[in-house]
Amino acid sequence: MKTTVHQTLWQLCVKGVVRILIGADNQKQYDTYDWDAGCSALRNPDLTYPQYYRIPNFHGVKSGYLCKEAAVTYDAVTAFASPPNETHLRQQVLTSIRGKPQQILDLGCGTGSMTLMLKAAHPQAEVIGLDLSPYMLCQAQHKSQKAQLNIHWRHGLAEDTGLEADHFDVITICMMFHEMPPRISRLVLQECRRLLKPNGQLIILDGNQNRLCHADWLIRLFQEPYSTAYARESVQDWMTQAGFDNVRTQYLGWIHQMTTGICSHLQDESTTKPLFCQTRSA
Ligand SMILES: C[S@@+](CC[C@H](N)C(=O)[O-])C[C@H]1O[C@@H](n2cnc3c(N)ncnc32)[C@H](O)[C@@H]1O
Repeated sequence: MKTTVHQTLWQLCVKGVVRILIGADNQKQYDTYDWDAGCSALRNPDLTYPQYYRIPNFHGVKSGYLCKEAAVTYDAVTAFASPPNETHLRQQVLTSIRGKPQQILDLGCGTGSMTLMLKAAHPQAEVIGLDLSPYMLCQAQHKSQKAQLNIHWRHGLAEDTGLEADHFDVITICMMFHEMPPRISRLVLQECRRLLKPNGQLIILDGNQNRLCHADWLIRLFQEPYSTAYARESVQDWMTQAGFDNVRTQYLGWIHQMTTGICSHLQDESTTKPLFCQTRSA
């Protein structure tokens, strides 16, 4: 009996600390939201999770992103991992967008922090957030409903989205590349080339590869299975090799970088496949 009381008090204590860390709204969402029904409504039944995504203990969270724990704790962890200021960091993505885009896609949108900012800054645009985790999408949907922002949430693979070709003015990819094998990131870039309109813009915000390659302790701290491989390579090179033009990298905050590029491919009308590496003026 004594042990039970002790455990209950301990559990209450842990719950109190978690509540402080993740916030009351996230704790309520965790406890009361019908995750099974929410995930079923968003889930794409034809989708098979790739092996690289299903590896155990991703981020130290059991089941990686495929659980409600990941969805409700993600924002708190990200704020901590984005010094000195996450909002300011994401603001740089908004600042780099040219003109008034009509179609915006946020790949690997997670809980939608960036997607919401994109829609708020560009209310005229149709904004789609795509992610492989229905749990993250449930959380994103909860946030967009609360903020009264009309965003389309889609369960899918960033490297094979099934979305319409030549459709988007802007694609953003935030903090996703350090969480997948580099060969998959390169496939995602090919998919972006397919999806972007001529002169469409790709913006990638992620960990600073120059810094991370000397910060193994940080990678271990956040239990990131692919970050060591990510840090050894260069998003700037990947984008250039994928055929993007005007590729530029800026270093932001303490440990982030933003790489932008323009997709100036011409469409081969006979095959409807993009002719990579040709510029409009060529
Ligand atoms: C670190 S989170 C970034 C979330 C969000 N973009 C942000 O800025 O906070 C990485 C996200 O990428 C998603 N992800 C990983 N691999 C993916 C893939 N192949 N296709 C789509 N989403 C993927 C994960 O489910 C996760 O939500």
